[in-house]
Amino acid sequence: MSFTLEFEPLGIRLVCDQPLTLLEAAHQTGIQLRSECGGKGTCGKCHIQLLEGTFDSPTPIEQKHLTPAQLSSRLRLACRTIARSDAKLNIPPESLIQEQVLQTEGAAHEFAPDPAVQQVFVKLSPPSLADLQADWQRVQSALQTHNLGNLKASLPVICSIRNELRRSQWKINLIHNDKEILHALPQTNFIPVGLAVDVGSTKLACYLVDLTSGKTIAALGVINPQISFGEDIMSRLGAVLEDEKNAHELQNAVISGINCACQDMCTSVNITPNSIVDVCLVGNTAMHHLFLGLPVQPLAQSPFVPALTSALYPRAQAIGIQAMPGARVYAPPVIAGFVGSDHLAFLLASGFGTDSRTRLGIDIGTNTEIALQSNNRIVSVSTASGPAFEGAHIRFGMRAAPGAIEHITIAKDGRAVCQVIGNQPAVGICGSGILDAVAEFRLTGLINERGRLDKNSPVIFKDSDGQLSYQLIQAGENQREINIDQKDIDQILLAKGAIRAGIDILLDDLKIKAEEIDEVVIAGAFGSYMNPDHAMRIGLLPPIKKDCVHAVGNAAGMGARMMLASMEMRARALELAHKIEYLELTVYPDFPLFFAKGIRA
Ligand code: FES
Repeated sequence: MSFTLEFEPLGIRLVCDQPLTLLEAAHQTGIQLRSECGGKGTCGKCHIQLLEGTFDSPTPIEQKHLTPAQLSSRLRLACRTIARSDAKLNIPPESLIQEQVLQTEGAAHEFAPDPAVQQVFVKLSPPSLADLQADWQRVQSALQTHNLGNLKASLPVICSIRNELRRSQWKINLIHNDKEILHALPQTNFIPVGLAVDVGSTKLACYLVDLTSGKTIAALGVINPQISFGEDIMSRLGAVLEDEKNAHELQNAVISGINCACQDMCTSVNITPNSIVDVCLVGNTAMHHLFLGLPVQPLAQSPFVPALTSALYPRAQAIGIQAMPGARVYAPPVIAGFVGSDHLAFLLASGFGTDSRTRLGIDIGTNTEIALQSNNRIVSVSTASGPAFEGAHIRFGMRAAPGAIEHITIAKDGRAVCQVIGNQPAVGICGSGILDAVAEFRLTGLINERGRLDKNSPVIFKDSDGQLSYQLIQAGENQREINIDQKDIDQILLAKGAIRAGIDILLDDLKIKAEEIDEVVIAGAFGSYMNPDHAMRIGLLPPIKKDCVHAVGNAAGMGARMMLASMEMRARALELAHKIEYLELTVYPDFPLFFAKGIRA
């Protein structure tokens, strides 16, 4: 009986007919897993993490190469681990010959740093029999000369101030926000650093920002460790519904992922997490709630109401984030059950609310959030588009990463010409490639307007499963065959239909025509690779003006950094959050008709 292996974070799937080692399986898909010893079990380089599935216990060779901590986190040697049934695996970056890329870049944005956390240096005269003022009152008097006499301090901070004052000859550097002193330091050359995080269901995009200059000094994209509870939000929420304890496990998983990424970034720039004075974290509402320890059960059931939408500022230490004692985590407002603070950050970084242009913002994912700005209104929707544009549920689908077919044209003889990310042998096809394929099929008549492949075409064949199929890449040495079949096209048209219905309903609600849209901004890796003409040809986008589509990369990450480094940006985000009107698609009149119209090819 066949079984399926899924390799994360690339999102590549392999259907297997017989037991095989995970190294063989990875090589069959074209994944370049490190295997210096050729699978003999001597190099110890072919690390792979078991996320789901049943496997034999580690062999003595694995016990020799892997530490007990690695084994307990289900890390194994791919050449020693045999797959016999459905499983999900995670490939750590260090196991790949060419490291995977998780998008952290966003369109650069100019803003003046104006951080929430500042530092002030105070020099005091020591107490004497003639001057018996208490230490804290002495500090408060000095702060008054800096117009900071209103600052409070917690008991632990007052104690540490007392000790530092005596250690550093009554000179002290106080780290503070507008309400309280967070920490006392002896040195004056301290550079305050902030941590911004965009928590996605699949990845964590993490940034260290120098808060004096507003510049990003390190960026790192890592897999969200919660993926071991399921790839999509609903399966993670389902795990909490099954057992409430899983909420705590999910919270611990994401926090340890952020701490690990933060430690790696700190090491790369020669600082310690103790230099982190402020944190800003954005994410979809489920990720936001799980991170903060808020109840998520209502997000799993209709009417999908969040526990709260307002901004929160918990202490980093109370949550478990490694940072300077006293540092806080700024969690900006969320908008609705399926429209989180990542959407707010995306719109902030894209300048929504700052001009009067008619603008459409789209962040394509398993849930696609769409915002339309027009006539001084901003209306947002969330549509369940499924993971097809991220390569999931597509037979040879994968995420936009090296080895993914990103662009396809069909030559006159009906054969495909494929462009692969990283100019290397293709291992799969990502969302933009699938979009191209469907657009080219439509243009060349290989599919009709209902998306049916033309069974009479000489380039369409029936595959071993009896599905009508089109060959993108022929099998060869070190190259697996890659096809697109009817089921793949159906999945893309469903995803496209959900997104297009969301756009059309927004246009309908705001009573504007597509040709009136001045700009479309598309976030995420898919937007960076997408061909806008093809998006219009298959109807993913309505007929809009030429050259008005702009890819903005990880705009949510950019927005998080802006809110981290600037109080003005936080204030603007709050205004934006109040301004955004959430529209529930499923109760919109004629929603099924909009959707039915949207899925046409
Ligand atoms: S390939 Fe060398 S130990 Fe697995």
